[in-house]
Amino acid sequence: MRSTIAEISIDNLKHNLSMLRKNSDNAEVMGIIKADAYGHGLVQIASFLRKENVKILGVAFADEAVALRKSGDNGEIFVTIPGTEYDTELYCAYNIQSSVEDINIVRKLSEEAHSRNMKVKTHLFINTGMNRDGIDPKNALEFMEQCKSLEGIDMIGILTHFASSELEDKSFALNQLEIFNETVTLLNENGYHFKYIHTANSGAIANLPESKFNLVRAGISLYGYMDYEYLASKLNLKPILTLKSKVININKIESGDNVGYSLNFISEKQSKIAVVPLGYGDGYHRTLSNKAECLINGKRYGLVGTICMDQCLVDVGNDDVHIGDEVIFIGNQGNESIKCYELAEKIGTIPYEITTALKWRVPRIYI
Ligand SMILES: Cc1ncc(COP(=O)(O)O)c(C=O)c1O
Repeated sequence: MRSTIAEISIDNLKHNLSMLRKNSDNAEVMGIIKADAYGHGLVQIASFLRKENVKILGVAFADEAVALRKSGDNGEIFVTIPGTEYDTELYCAYNIQSSVEDINIVRKLSEEAHSRNMKVKTHLFINTGMNRDGIDPKNALEFMEQCKSLEGIDMIGILTHFASSELEDKSFALNQLEIFNETVTLLNENGYHFKYIHTANSGAIANLPESKFNLVRAGISLYGYMDYEYLASKLNLKPILTLKSKVININKIESGDNVGYSLNFISEKQSKIAVVPLGYGDGYHRTLSNKAECLINGKRYGLVGTICMDQCLVDVGNDDVHIGDEVIFIGNQGNESIKCYELAEKIGTIPYEITTALKWRVPRIYI
């Protein structure tokens, strides 16, 4: 096996789940495991969550749900992005719950389900201000009236998605919630009731107690992160990912020597360069070149030169660093720690993108 690995702490995953459950009042926690469980491994994270009695898992696309089914998962699976007509067979064949926003697709789903002598479970997506997924709330009643005659459909859920639940200013999110509440009330008054009512993503679990209803959709928080570190601390979350490798070579350089491609780092001093087999081909962003740091023997060192596809280069000065020494890119070593926030901030992104970028080539080890 490569010396570069992503170690995933199942203890921390369990801890995060219990923190999320504690903060979700009596709502069920849906584990959002799209995009390969945000880089942590779809099938493995799913199976650990099921062992912890997570009743419903969420993915973005039908194909992800099918991959889960093929891995042997028999539980409830919800697809967050409203499906296309091409997915209708998959939803029925694999008993997958989909969100819906297009009555023509709901009709197709119904026909497909009816031909299989079954009912397919769906959730009505209401657009309350994100302007990405869902129907205009004004059309919700008419939509449900149209669904009434569709024999293959079992509309078990209603949802919306927040555009800014992570922000301190809650006004936009509260307005979304108000629109959602009004819509659900109107539908209830007209005899439409839903088993699952869900709006909260991770930010809302931390910030919007009013948004939890009876199901919350927890993604990034399961993995120990949030958009902002103070929000993760509020929920006492622990990162579950450690990205580590080992030094595989050491080159001595003199002042004025180049390090790596394109002459992007010319050393100003005599030094030693540790070579580590992690690169952008593993999902470690090239834009971190000359910016990121790593930990070796409990000390921080800067990455220098351009990050290559398969390797990167670390200036270890004249320190006692040897081939085989452990290198931490994300995680803890001694008293030092590097979190995804630090990397994200350096390249103007969010922790989501740091973990999700990790490629299949990095073996995931679950401990
Ligand atoms: C519809 C929907 N629900 C829930 C989530 C989970 O969000 P988070 O990772 O912020 O908890 C996402 C993620 O983007 C989403 O698109």
